[in-house]
Amino acid sequence: NNVASGSLCFVTCTTCHLCTVLILLSFCSLSRRNMSSMLAPQADQVVTLSEWEDRWLEGRIEFHRPQVHEMLENNIDKVLNGRTGVRFFFPLCGKAVDMKWLADLGHSVVGVEISQKGVRDFFEDNNMTYSVETVASLPGAKVFKSSEKNISLYQCDLFNFSSSIEGQFGAIWDRGSLVAINPRDREKYAALLISLMATDCRYILNTVVYNTELHKGLPFVVPDEQVHSLFGSHCSIELLHSVEALTDRLRSWGLDYFTENVHLLIPKTSNASEY
Ligand SMILES: C[S@@+](CC[C@H](N)C(=O)[O-])C[C@H]1O[C@@H](n2cnc3c(N)ncnc32)[C@H](O)[C@@H]1O
Ligand SMILES: *[C@@H]1O[C@H](CO)[C@@H](O)[C@H](O)[C@H]1NC(C)=O
Ligand SMILES: *[C@@H]1O[C@H](CO)[C@@H](O)[C@H](O)[C@H]1NC(C)=O
Ligand SMILES: *[C@@H]1O[C@H](CO)[C@@H](O)[C@H](O)[C@H]1NC(C)=O
Ligand SMILES: *[C@@H]1O[C@H](CO)[C@@H](O)[C@H](O)[C@H]1NC(C)=O
Repeated sequence: NNVASGSLCFVTCTTCHLCTVLILLSFCSLSRRNMSSMLAPQADQVVTLSEWEDRWLEGRIEFHRPQVHEMLENNIDKVLNGRTGVRFFFPLCGKAVDMKWLADLGHSVVGVEISQKGVRDFFEDNNMTYSVETVASLPGAKVFKSSEKNISLYQCDLFNFSSSIEGQFGAIWDRGSLVAINPRDREKYAALLISLMATDCRYILNTVVYNTELHKGLPFVVPDEQVHSLFGSHCSIELLHSVEALTDRLRSWGLDYFTENVHLLIPKTSNASEY
């Protein structure tokens, strides 16, 4: 009868809604659990500054690329957004050839690198002469400046650097940087990088994702969800590229997938017109 079918309908509907809510809730906690279980195996990994300096002295710099990074080249119009003479920041710069490429295009570059050998190699590999100075406001640091180009490399701990040294930047190229920072320092890193972004800044962030049960790092895994939790309150975030990049070397580490993600971060307060 009507009453019975009415209450059956009610029960069914309530069950449906409950199920929907439960399914949604379990998806949410699943993705949160996925992120923390993905991060857990690397959470306590630490690479010290002296270990990085040793890697340079021993020539263990597999991360270095002899060519301009294709993700910088492919996205340069998005980064510049019509601007000329942009001030670029390279956190953890190594001897990235991208710095010379940008300076040759008329931009200026500030980098930070702990290894003195890395900094000197950058100038020497590129046949550039340079000056060396101490920095009054940065005890223990030196700044290496190209004599011909607008490139200044600070040899110090990135966490000693701040906007009081060189102001804020119109662009940031982050490759091998967030993924190389000790996982426990990520919040501190994000806060520092946000403080270095000018209102018109365009920040290209490269991250990697693989099964952390199979490899301890480096590089360390930074899931997209964490990019959002680190930068999402200050920046809009666009995933520009996501590519599978498994190579024989990565297969030999035991990996079965290796995803490279490229994000474009723009301050939410940005007044620049959309590209
Ligand atoms: C994975 S490499 C990437 C270098 C460069 N971005 C590239 O793509 O070739 C990371 C670099 O950061 C430097 N480094 C690591 N921790 C640092 C820190 N806390 N402060 C300054 N440099 C650091 C290391 O010496 C190393 O050269
Ligand atoms: C630097 O100079 C050397 C010797 O003249 C040359 O072989 C090399 O190609 C130069 N490197 C660059 C990046 O111009
Ligand atoms: C370096 O940049 C400054 C300002 O960004 C500019 O005035 C200067 O001409 C540049 N110098 C060189 C050598 O490009
Ligand atoms: C960091 O700063 C402290 C002082 O604030 C200084 O003693 C130390 O040498 C600096 N370390 C590096 C690696 O730049
Ligand atoms: C937008 O921001 C830039 C950089 O901070 C500033 O120079 C410019 O005056 C701003 N433009 C407007 C319309 O607010």
